[in-house]
Amino acid sequence: MESLAALTERALNEVVATDDLAQLDEVRVRWLGKKGLLTEQLKALGNLPAAERPAAGQLINVAKARVQEVLDQRLASLQAALLERQLAQGRVDVTLGGRGEQAGGLHPVTRARLRIERLFADIGFTVAQGPEIEDDFHNFTALNVPADHPARAMHDTFYVDPAHAGQGALLRTHTSPVQIRALRAGKPPLAVIAPGRVYRVDSDATHTPMFHQVEGLLVDTDVSFAQLKSVLHGFMEAFFERDLAMRLRPSYFPFTEPSAEVDISCVECGGKGCRLCKQTGWIEVLGCGMVHPQVLASCDVDPERYTGYAFGMGIDRLAMLRYGVNDLRLFFENDLRFLRQFRGG
Ligand code: PHE
Repeated sequence: MESLAALTERALNEVVATDDLAQLDEVRVRWLGKKGLLTEQLKALGNLPAAERPAAGQLINVAKARVQEVLDQRLASLQAALLERQLAQGRVDVTLGGRGEQAGGLHPVTRARLRIERLFADIGFTVAQGPEIEDDFHNFTALNVPADHPARAMHDTFYVDPAHAGQGALLRTHTSPVQIRALRAGKPPLAVIAPGRVYRVDSDATHTPMFHQVEGLLVDTDVSFAQLKSVLHGFMEAFFERDLAMRLRPSYFPFTEPSAEVDISCVECGGKGCRLCKQTGWIEVLGCGMVHPQVLASCDVDPERYTGYAFGMGIDRLAMLRYGVNDLRLFFENDLRFLRQFRGG
């Protein structure tokens, strides 16, 4: 008859040779089950003289425990391998592109911004960026906004520390400070646009506390107001993809002189008069002007030698006009039923 040691050896070999859970279970039943080969050894104890039974029984139990131990180890490693395979099969590759109908789309404000950037890139403007938390110098002082100017009052501006309203860090109220940074960092000739988020204490159907602006700055020798007008007119017609009338009204900005506000013929009615243009036939779209000599000087640019123009417009407002959206707040609610309408195309 095969010795206990040989039987144990055979059992252990079978256990480690299994490659799946079903096989392992068969091996378990064959050796340790009720009628298993090792269990049978215990039953055979009855054939031994009574004095030898305890010692022999103990040896069999030790052998059974050893096989059980190796079996448990094998079970754990087979289970781990199975889990590993299942995870590998269900793995999602997050770098893959979207699938058809489920594909996302760009937010209409992002689409408008990219469109504006592309149109200005076509005529040689580069995109500049700057911090949204600004200091007084870049947001106001360098832009020729005197200390007592109403735009500095708490009324318009979010100060980071409300206890020190009127001084210290603030949320930029326009992207003009980016132009100051660009001008101080570079040398003319220079043509940049600065798109980005801006903040003002304001909230209704046409104002949100955070909105998006794009401002442009061109500084060179012999820059004229006529060039500014023609660049803006060309841009508006390209952005709205149609012929538009444009008019300039004299205005005031501390950082430009002369300054103007720009209207285009109504994109809804073409100038005949409708609700959108309040029956005037005109829609106001931006502010602009020739860069104030004081602003050039605060950026260490010689105002005797260089001139420049600047303009600023609301991206959200342009997006509303282009996509026919009548409430600015829709852009910020992230209602999928609204956003899906801008998917694709
Ligand atoms: N910075 C102005 C604003 O926020 C817009 C503007 C920019 C006007 C440049 C003139 C020139 O309203």
